[in-house]
Amino acid sequence: MEFKIYRYDGEEESYDTYKVPPEEGQTVLDALFHIQENIDDSLSFRYSCRGAVCGSCAMLIDKVPRLACRTQTKRVKEQKREIEHYKALDEGEELSEDHILVEPLPHLEVKKDLIVDMEKFYENYERIEPYLKPDEKPEKEHLMDQEKVSELEDYTNCILCAACFGGCPVNGENEKYLGPAALAKLYRFHIDPRDDDDRLTLADHEDGWWACDFYTNCRKVCPKDVPPNFGIGKARQELEEEDD
Ligand code: SF4
Ligand code: FES
Repeated sequence: MEFKIYRYDGEEESYDTYKVPPEEGQTVLDALFHIQENIDDSLSFRYSCRGAVCGSCAMLIDKVPRLACRTQTKRVKEQKREIEHYKALDEGEELSEDHILVEPLPHLEVKKDLIVDMEKFYENYERIEPYLKPDEKPEKEHLMDQEKVSELEDYTNCILCAACFGGCPVNGENEKYLGPAALAKLYRFHIDPRDDDDRLTLADHEDGWWACDFYTNCRKVCPKDVPPNFGIGKARQELEEEDD
Protein backbone atom coordinates (compact mmCIF):
# COMPACT_ATOMS: atom_id res chain seq x y z
CA MET A 1 0.00 0.00 0.00
CA GLU A 2 1.42 3.38 -0.97
CA PHE A 3 0.93 6.56 1.02
CA LYS A 4 1.50 9.99 -0.42
CA ILE A 5 1.98 12.36 2.49
CA TYR A 6 2.16 16.13 2.70
CA ARG A 7 5.39 17.38 4.21
CA TYR A 8 6.22 20.84 5.55
CA ASP A 9 9.33 21.72 7.52
CA GLY A 10 8.54 25.36 8.25
CA GLU A 11 9.92 26.49 4.87
CA GLU A 12 9.27 24.07 2.04
CA GLU A 13 6.14 22.15 1.12
CA SER A 14 6.38 18.77 -0.62
CA TYR A 15 4.81 15.32 -0.86
CA ASP A 16 6.68 12.11 -0.01
CA THR A 17 5.60 8.63 -1.01
CA TYR A 18 6.09 5.62 1.25
CA LYS A 19 5.30 1.93 0.87
CA VAL A 20 3.70 0.33 3.91
CA PRO A 21 3.02 -3.42 4.11
CA PRO A 22 -0.74 -3.93 4.53
CA GLU A 23 -1.96 -5.67 7.66
CA GLU A 24 -5.34 -6.84 8.79
CA GLY A 25 -7.13 -4.05 10.68
CA GLN A 26 -4.39 -1.52 9.94
CA THR A 27 -5.48 2.07 10.37
CA VAL A 28 -4.00 5.12 8.68
CA LEU A 29 -2.51 6.03 12.06
CA ASP A 30 -0.84 2.57 12.23
CA ALA A 31 0.60 3.20 8.77
CA LEU A 32 1.95 6.60 9.88
CA PHE A 33 3.62 4.90 12.85
CA HIS A 34 5.12 2.29 10.55
CA ILE A 35 6.62 5.04 8.41
CA GLN A 36 7.90 6.99 11.41
CA GLU A 37 9.40 3.94 13.10
CA ASN A 38 10.83 2.15 10.06
CA ILE A 39 11.33 4.54 7.16
CA ASP A 40 11.39 8.21 8.08
CA ASP A 41 11.50 9.35 11.71
CA SER A 42 11.10 12.98 10.70
CA LEU A 43 7.44 12.47 9.79
CA SER A 44 5.30 14.40 12.29
CA PHE A 45 1.67 13.85 13.18
CA ARG A 46 -0.51 14.27 16.24
CA TYR A 47 -2.29 11.52 18.17
CA SER A 48 -3.01 10.50 21.74
CA CYS A 49 -5.69 7.93 22.49
CA ARG A 50 -5.55 5.84 19.29
CA GLY A 51 -9.20 5.02 19.96
CA ALA A 52 -11.30 7.85 18.45
CA VAL A 53 -11.67 9.59 21.80
CA CYS A 54 -9.16 12.44 22.07
CA GLY A 55 -9.76 14.03 18.65
CA SER A 56 -6.05 14.68 18.04
CA CYS A 57 -5.54 12.76 14.81
CA ALA A 58 -8.00 14.45 12.43
CA MET A 59 -6.47 14.97 8.99
CA LEU A 60 -7.39 14.86 5.33
CA ILE A 61 -7.35 11.30 4.08
CA ASP A 62 -8.03 11.12 0.36
CA LYS A 63 -9.42 14.66 0.59
CA VAL A 64 -11.93 13.86 3.35
CA PRO A 65 -11.42 15.03 6.95
CA ARG A 66 -11.26 11.85 9.07
CA LEU A 67 -9.68 10.49 12.23
CA ALA A 68 -6.52 8.58 11.24
CA CYS A 69 -6.95 6.18 14.17
CA ARG A 70 -10.44 5.26 13.07
CA THR A 71 -9.84 4.93 9.34
CA GLN A 72 -8.84 1.50 8.10
CA THR A 73 -6.38 1.68 5.22
CA LYS A 74 -8.18 -1.08 3.33
CA ARG A 75 -11.43 0.82 3.43
CA VAL A 76 -10.27 4.33 2.50
CA LYS A 77 -11.11 3.86 -1.18
CA GLU A 78 -14.53 2.32 -0.53
CA GLN A 79 -15.53 4.82 2.13
CA LYS A 80 -15.96 7.71 -0.28
CA ARG A 81 -18.08 10.23 1.52
CA GLU A 82 -20.23 12.46 -0.60
CA ILE A 83 -19.11 15.76 0.77
CA GLU A 84 -19.28 19.08 -0.99
CA HIS A 85 -15.79 19.69 -2.33
CA TYR A 86 -14.26 23.15 -2.52
CA LYS A 87 -10.93 24.84 -3.14
CA ALA A 88 -9.17 24.05 0.13
CA LEU A 89 -10.06 20.38 -0.16
CA ASP A 90 -9.16 20.05 -3.80
CA GLU A 91 -5.94 22.01 -4.07
CA GLY A 92 -2.63 20.19 -3.72
CA GLU A 93 -2.08 16.68 -4.98
CA GLU A 94 -4.59 14.79 -7.09
CA LEU A 95 -6.40 11.71 -5.82
CA SER A 96 -5.27 8.40 -7.28
CA GLU A 97 -6.26 4.76 -6.93
CA ASP A 98 -2.52 4.00 -6.57
CA HIS A 99 -2.00 5.69 -3.23
CA ILE A 100 -3.72 7.01 -0.14
CA LEU A 101 -3.26 10.75 0.06
CA VAL A 102 -2.71 12.16 3.57
CA GLU A 103 -2.71 15.90 4.21
CA PRO A 104 -3.27 18.26 7.16
CA LEU A 105 -6.70 19.70 7.93
CA PRO A 106 -7.49 22.85 5.92
CA HIS A 107 -8.20 26.27 7.49
CA LEU A 108 -5.61 25.86 10.24
CA GLU A 109 -1.97 26.88 10.02
CA VAL A 110 0.35 23.94 9.40
CA LYS A 111 3.13 23.73 11.97
CA LYS A 112 4.88 20.65 10.59
CA ASP A 113 3.78 17.91 8.18
CA LEU A 114 0.34 16.79 9.39
CA ILE A 115 0.32 18.89 12.57
CA VAL A 116 -1.86 21.99 12.51
CA ASP A 117 -2.12 24.82 14.99
CA MET A 118 -5.51 24.40 16.68
CA GLU A 119 -5.50 27.87 18.25
CA LYS A 120 -8.00 29.40 15.84
CA PHE A 121 -10.39 26.51 16.42
CA TYR A 122 -10.15 26.82 20.21
CA GLU A 123 -10.45 30.60 20.10
CA ASN A 124 -13.82 30.20 18.39
CA TYR A 125 -14.77 27.63 20.95
CA GLU A 126 -13.95 30.01 23.79
CA ARG A 127 -16.03 32.73 22.16
CA ILE A 128 -19.21 30.74 22.78
CA GLU A 129 -18.44 30.44 26.54
CA PRO A 130 -18.59 26.64 26.60
CA TYR A 131 -19.61 26.03 30.18
CA LEU A 132 -22.83 25.71 32.08
CA LYS A 133 -24.32 28.90 33.52
CA PRO A 134 -27.04 27.78 35.91
CA ASP A 135 -29.31 30.34 37.54
CA GLU A 136 -29.01 28.69 40.91
CA LYS A 137 -27.30 25.63 42.30
CA PRO A 138 -29.66 22.76 43.09
CA GLU A 139 -29.65 21.26 46.57
CA LYS A 140 -28.97 17.85 45.08
CA GLU A 141 -28.30 16.81 41.48
CA HIS A 142 -30.29 18.15 38.53
CA LEU A 143 -32.79 15.59 37.31
CA MET A 144 -33.41 15.38 33.58
CA ASP A 145 -35.75 13.21 31.58
CA GLN A 146 -34.20 10.62 29.28
CA GLU A 147 -35.48 12.27 26.12
CA LYS A 148 -33.65 15.49 26.98
CA VAL A 149 -30.49 13.55 27.89
CA SER A 150 -30.53 11.86 24.45
CA GLU A 151 -31.06 15.20 22.72
CA LEU A 152 -28.09 16.69 24.57
CA GLU A 153 -25.93 13.66 23.84
CA ASP A 154 -26.13 14.32 20.11
CA TYR A 155 -23.99 17.38 20.83
CA THR A 156 -21.98 16.41 23.92
CA ASN A 157 -20.41 13.57 21.90
CA CYS A 158 -18.16 16.12 20.20
CA ILE A 159 -14.46 15.34 20.74
CA LEU A 160 -13.20 18.69 19.35
CA CYS A 161 -11.28 17.06 16.53
CA ALA A 162 -11.95 19.99 14.12
CA ALA A 163 -12.78 17.66 11.21
CA CYS A 164 -15.93 19.73 10.65
CA PHE A 165 -13.94 22.97 10.81
CA GLY A 166 -11.59 21.69 8.10
CA GLY A 167 -14.46 20.34 6.04
CA CYS A 168 -16.63 23.45 6.08
CA PRO A 169 -16.40 25.67 2.97
CA VAL A 170 -17.64 28.69 4.94
CA ASN A 171 -14.73 28.42 7.38
CA GLY A 172 -12.46 28.68 4.35
CA GLU A 173 -14.14 31.86 3.10
CA ASN A 174 -14.80 33.65 6.37
CA GLU A 175 -12.00 33.70 8.94
CA LYS A 176 -14.38 35.01 11.59
CA TYR A 177 -17.03 32.32 11.20
CA LEU A 178 -17.46 30.49 14.51
CA GLY A 179 -17.67 27.18 12.70
CA PRO A 180 -19.77 24.04 13.12
CA ALA A 181 -18.24 22.64 16.34
CA ALA A 182 -18.52 25.89 18.32
CA LEU A 183 -22.08 26.49 17.11
CA ALA A 184 -23.07 22.90 17.90
CA LYS A 185 -21.73 23.37 21.42
CA LEU A 186 -23.55 26.67 21.81
CA TYR A 187 -26.79 25.01 20.75
CA ARG A 188 -26.09 22.21 23.23
CA PHE A 189 -26.05 24.75 26.09
CA HIS A 190 -29.12 26.48 24.71
CA ILE A 191 -31.18 23.28 24.97
CA ASP A 192 -29.75 22.29 28.35
CA PRO A 193 -32.54 22.83 30.92
CA ARG A 194 -29.92 23.50 33.63
CA ASP A 195 -28.53 26.49 31.79
CA ASP A 196 -30.17 29.83 32.34
CA ASP A 197 -28.26 32.07 29.94
CA ASP A 198 -29.62 33.52 26.71
CA ARG A 199 -27.34 31.49 24.51
CA LEU A 200 -28.81 32.13 21.08
CA THR A 201 -27.94 35.83 21.09
CA LEU A 202 -24.24 35.03 21.52
CA ALA A 203 -24.07 33.92 17.88
CA ASP A 204 -26.90 36.04 16.49
CA HIS A 205 -24.63 37.81 14.00
CA GLU A 206 -23.21 37.40 10.51
CA ASP A 207 -20.26 35.28 11.68
CA GLY A 208 -22.44 33.06 13.83
CA TRP A 209 -25.70 31.21 13.10
CA TRP A 210 -26.34 33.27 9.98
CA ALA A 211 -23.04 32.51 8.23
CA CYS A 212 -23.84 28.84 7.68
CA ASP A 213 -24.73 27.94 4.09
CA PHE A 214 -25.85 24.40 4.97
CA TYR A 215 -23.31 22.51 2.89
CA THR A 216 -23.75 19.83 5.62
CA ASN A 217 -20.14 18.68 5.30
CA CYS A 218 -19.88 19.05 9.08
CA ARG A 219 -22.47 16.36 9.66
CA LYS A 220 -21.02 14.07 6.99
CA VAL A 221 -17.42 14.15 8.22
CA CYS A 222 -18.09 14.12 11.96
CA PRO A 223 -16.70 10.89 13.46
CA LYS A 224 -19.17 11.13 16.34
CA ASP A 225 -22.31 11.86 14.35
CA VAL A 226 -22.75 15.29 15.89
CA PRO A 227 -25.26 17.25 13.76
CA PRO A 228 -24.05 20.90 13.83
CA ASN A 229 -26.15 21.75 10.76
CA PHE A 230 -29.29 20.63 12.55
CA GLY A 231 -28.54 22.71 15.67
CA ILE A 232 -27.74 25.75 13.53
CA GLY A 233 -31.00 25.35 11.60
CA LYS A 234 -33.02 25.05 14.81
CA ALA A 235 -31.31 28.09 16.34
CA ARG A 236 -32.07 30.18 13.26
CA GLN A 237 -35.66 29.04 13.25
CA GLU A 238 -36.09 30.03 16.90
CA LEU A 239 -34.51 33.43 16.35
CA GLU A 240 -36.76 34.06 13.37
CA GLU A 241 -39.83 33.08 15.40
CA GLU A 242 -38.76 35.47 18.17
CA ASP A 243 -38.63 38.28 15.60
CA ASP A 244 -42.15 37.57 14.29
S1 SF4 B 1 -18.65 18.28 15.75
FE1 SF4 B 1 -17.75 16.29 15.10
S2 SF4 B 1 -16.27 16.85 13.53
FE2 SF4 B 1 -16.75 18.73 14.65
S3 SF4 B 1 -15.18 18.88 16.25
FE3 SF4 B 1 -16.94 17.81 17.15
S4 SF4 B 1 -16.50 15.62 16.84
FE4 SF4 B 1 -15.13 16.73 15.47
S1 FES C 1 -5.66 9.39 18.37
FE1 FES C 1 -7.29 10.07 19.62
S2 FES C 1 -8.92 10.36 18.21
FE2 FES C 1 -7.35 9.48 16.98
